[in-house]
Amino acid sequence: MNETINLIQNRRSIRSYEDKLISEENKNLIINSAMRSPTAGNMMLYSIVEIEDQEIKDKLVKSCDNQPFIAKAPLVLLFLADYQRWMDYFTVCDIDSFCESEKLTQRAPQEGDMLLACCDALIAAQTAVVAAESLGIGSCYIGDIMENYEFHKDLFNLPKYTFPIILLCFGYPKDKILNKALTPRFAQKYIHFKNAYKSLNNIDFEEMYKTRKLKHYIGNATNFGQHMYLKKFVADFTIEMTRSVRKAIQEWSS
Ligand SMILES: Cc1cc2nc3c(=O)[nH]c(=O)nc-3n(C[C@H](O)[C@H](O)[C@H](O)COP(=O)(O)O)c2cc1C
Repeated sequence: MNETINLIQNRRSIRSYEDKLISEENKNLIINSAMRSPTAGNMMLYSIVEIEDQEIKDKLVKSCDNQPFIAKAPLVLLFLADYQRWMDYFTVCDIDSFCESEKLTQRAPQEGDMLLACCDALIAAQTAVVAAESLGIGSCYIGDIMENYEFHKDLFNLPKYTFPIILLCFGYPKDKILNKALTPRFAQKYIHFKNAYKSLNNIDFEEMYKTRKLKHYIGNATNFGQHMYLKKFVADFTIEMTRSVRKAIQEWSS
């Protein structure tokens, strides 16, 4: 295995950090690497906000479903889907009168533009993860940043055509974490299809999930599916995420 494959295959999420700062040099390497990611039409439809202020990190602990490790991460980066910069540039470029003279109907960013900007932001985020890993710096995604849209909009002074798609926490991992086994993945045959989608049957599922059986399931759940349904699919944070994302989509498309 080459070094890059080895690095990718041994990455794990890190939620507990050494009390050690990340140097400006390493921080810039991570951000510059993220900025080399592919982006749709090379438009770079994202922005990165570095959260330096401890008070803001503390607020994020609560607004991102009570995850205390966010406050302890030496580096926290917010990845925004961002069409606002292009809209502002279009204004500077006098798109109003251009559309008028060309008899073009003006349009504003909508759902498709939002998803494309989310793609750019997430791809940049994953490049940041891999770059950090190569420097011995661990990371963990926080998807709960998609919740509480109104609060985060206010907290970060977000304009209309931006959306906080992911938060990343970085820090040097505590040694003991690195001795733990990697989290399992499903076998490739259930994930990788050729030419068309393949629906799985009961036998497939039995085999696919046989390593995911737990000693204790939450509530009255009697199998892993019921357990995950309660823990994730109908959990309060999921319901809030749906409400919040819907609000953001409405904001973009209004
Ligand atoms: C989109 C996304 C959102 C995530 N959100 C969280 C989160 O809010 N809190 C957390 O502790 N981990 C979060 N994770 C990390 C996953 O839990 C982790 O990647 C998964 O359990 C597999 O573990 P591994 O990364 O160690 O292989 C998130 C990962 C992704 C890709």
